[in-house]
This record gives sequence, structure tokens and C-alpha cells, in this order.
Amino acid sequence: MRVKKAVVPAAGFGTRMLPITSVVPKELLPVCGRPVIQHVVQEAVAAGITEVILVLSEGKEAVADYFRPNKKLAEQLLRTGKHAELQQLERIWDMAKITVVYQQEQLGLGHAVLCAKDAVGNEPFAVLLGDCIIQSDDCGSFTKKLVEAFGSYDRSVVGVEPVDECLIQRYGIFEGAEFEDNVFHGKRVVEKPDPSQTDSNLAFCARYVFSPALFQQLENTQHGLHNEIQLTDAMQKLLETEGLNAVKLEGERFDVGDPKGLLYANLSMMEIHCGE
Ligand code: UTP
Repeated sequence: MRVKKAVVPAAGFGTRMLPITSVVPKELLPVCGRPVIQHVVQEAVAAGITEVILVLSEGKEAVADYFRPNKKLAEQLLRTGKHAELQQLERIWDMAKITVVYQQEQLGLGHAVLCAKDAVGNEPFAVLLGDCIIQSDDCGSFTKKLVEAFGSYDRSVVGVEPVDECLIQRYGIFEGAEFEDNVFHGKRVVEKPDPSQTDSNLAFCARYVFSPALFQQLENTQHGLHNEIQLTDAMQKLLETEGLNAVKLEGERFDVGDPKGLLYANLSMMEIHCGE
């Protein structure tokens, strides 16, 4: 079944980016002149996604407004002959169907994805974290690679990247065996393990494609640490019932949810020219 929908969790408080995030969502901060969320939605659209479901919290409505036509501004640009500027905006407004769902309480990433259950329905879907930008070495969409892997193996799939041993306990970790170049069968996934508790250094890198069975697994997942529903716990159950693959990223992931990451993304992406 074709993957047409993407869920973009963007309801977090963004406390690592305070004070700006007390009023400006981190997803709207610019990387090379475009807000983070535009990079993320572009990656989804390049993977064939036609509907993007934004998971927002109160006060972050501007993230969705960015994709909505602004009639007054359009009229003003037309009147003053700023056609190129208007075309640029129209490309953003026409990019994809944007649907908004709200997460009333920040109960974790798994809970944020579960909030999109009705909007997704009974079909496979991609998940792209709203505060991570991915730059593939071949300039293509990494989500597209995941969508293709989902199609080839008929199995949910997570994007992974190797991390240094000292970073293992900061990420969800994928343990598995490579059966094709950069494609792995999953044996176990584990959230933020101590390096001594895992033989893998493959960390989730903010991109996933899931079968709709993930929602049932999320509904059956107990609230864990900080009363949060962990996406990794539901992924482990999915792995046990339907299997879970991984595709290794060839490229770079920028976590723009912290000040250093945002600066690094701007500097690195300025150096990369992908035909734009
Ligand atoms: P993070 O933990 O990186 O984001 O979650 P955060 O909570 O906004 O950041 P800090 O730690 O306070 O700075 C990863 C992604 O999951 C979303 C976030 O918006 C981010 O895109 N998320 C997280 C939710 O949508 N809801 C949640 O309850 C938690």
C-alpha cells in the first residue's frame, strides 16, 4: 500500500531553546533562510507524501499557519509587482495538504504519534520529527528511501545512524543484522541503554515508516518514565509481532532543537548545494 501520509510531531515545549521558544516554536527558526518545518515537509513531499499531519500543542499554531495562504499578503505582492516573491509563497502553500491535531499534554513522543491515529486511519504512514533536518549524501529524501524499503519488504522501518559509544545512552538504539547493503532486520530496540547493555551503536535518526498496527501497540503501551508513552516500547512490540527493519542513513542528521545543532545546521547546509 502506498505511503501517502506523514505525521510530524511538533508539540514539544522546546526547553533547550528557551527563551525564544516561550513565544516562537523551534520549528519556525530558520536554517539557510527557510524554517525548519519547511525542510521537514519538503523531505516528506519528495518521498511522495501528499498529506502532512502536524501534531501541535497550544501556542504553536503558527507552525500550521506558515502553510496557509495569506490572502492580504498575496494581494499586496500582486499590486506591487513582486511576482517572484508571491510564487515562492504559493509553492509553500501548495506543498501538501496540512492537517492539524493537538496533543493536549506533552506525554511523550509515542503519545504525540498516537494523537494522529484518527487522522491517519488504517494505512501505513511516515513519521518525521519536526525538529530534525536530514541531509542525505546523494541530496535525495531519506524518507523516500524508507518508503521504498517499506514497499520492498512490506515491513515497518526506522532510519538509523551510527553514533559514538558515549552517545548511545541518549538515543533509541536498534539491534539487528544487515541482510542487504545498509538494510537490517531488527532483533531488539531499546531506549537510551547503557553502552554495556547493547552490542549496537545504531541510533534512531528521527525518521520512520510504520504499518497502522503501531497504533494498537501504542494504545497498549504503559506510561513509563515521567508518565510518558515511549515510541520505542511500541516499536519493540511491533518488532515482535510483525518485524521491524532499519535503513542506515548515508548523510547527516541535524538536531535543530538545541542552539548548537541549529547553528551547526546553518553552517553545514550553507556549504552543501543540492541543486537549489
Ligand atoms: P524532544 O524531546 O527533542 O523535543 O522531542 P522537546 O520536548 O520539544 O524538546 P526539549 O527537550 O524540551 O528541548 C522530539 C520530538 O518529539 C516532539 C517534539 O516536538 C520533537 O519534535 N514531541 C515530544 C511531541 O510532539 N510531544 C511530546 O510530548 C514530546
